[in-house]
Amino acid sequence: MGDYTNMAGYYDVIMTSGYYDYAKIVDSLVSHHPEHNVLEIGCGTGLILEELAKRQPKLPITGIDLTAPMLSIAQKRLAPFSTVSLSQQNITELSLNQKHDLAFSYGGVWYFVIDGDKEPFLVSHIADAHANHLGFEHLAKHIAIGGTLLLGIQGPHHDYETVISNGMKYSQKIDPTEIGFTKHYYLHDAETKLMDQTVTYRTYTFAEAKKMMRTYGFEYVPTQDANKLFLQFKRV
Ligand SMILES: C[S@@+](CC[C@H](N)C(=O)[O-])C[C@H]1O[C@@H](n2cnc3c(N)ncnc32)[C@H](O)[C@@H]1O
Repeated sequence: MGDYTNMAGYYDVIMTSGYYDYAKIVDSLVSHHPEHNVLEIGCGTGLILEELAKRQPKLPITGIDLTAPMLSIAQKRLAPFSTVSLSQQNITELSLNQKHDLAFSYGGVWYFVIDGDKEPFLVSHIADAHANHLGFEHLAKHIAIGGTLLLGIQGPHHDYETVISNGMKYSQKIDPTEIGFTKHYYLHDAETKLMDQTVTYRTYTFAEAKKMMRTYGFEYVPTQDANKLFLQFKRV
């Protein structure tokens, strides 16, 4: 279920070679004016949280992630920021002793894919259907009523390869499955394979996602994010 151990040591160089625009992601987050505390689910190596902590130095921030080697990179990166606390947790068993006014995931546990003018669909790092319900159930307990959940938007996945900033070759391959798709990630230095990782994703139509999320108190808010980076849900 969404384990990133194989990729952890290479994650930062792949992502900061243009895979995600972290400054723009944080522009969207701060536009929601979080005041009390923010939770990132699937914070990985902490690239978003570092940018957020720099911009909002008084804001208490929590990051959780399943994969220990990802989190240990985040721990080093975020050590200078006393406002940030990190915890190794699976969202399906999330247990923190506070509620948050804003929770978000960008490429973390759940995200939406929007392909042109087609309807969004939900992509989950959690392959098991029941475990997705457990994840939303546990998350709901950690967001204050009236609070906001933002789930990132990505473009459609496709097979490609590209040379990243250190000259290595990143490639990905997508295989459709009955429950969604499997994504294979590779990193090569010349002909030498340095990393491969496979993640099985479950997908949900927009109607299925909204129905599941509503069961746990997440109501879709059709307000468009200025950067079109997140879909918004209100905890009701
Ligand atoms: C593509 S990374 C995104 C990291 C970070 N949000 C970023 O933008 O760089 C996905 C992360 O989600 C985490 N993840 C996947 N399934 C999870 C789960 N069930 N509970 C907690 N974290 C999970 C993985 O360990 C991984 O670090």
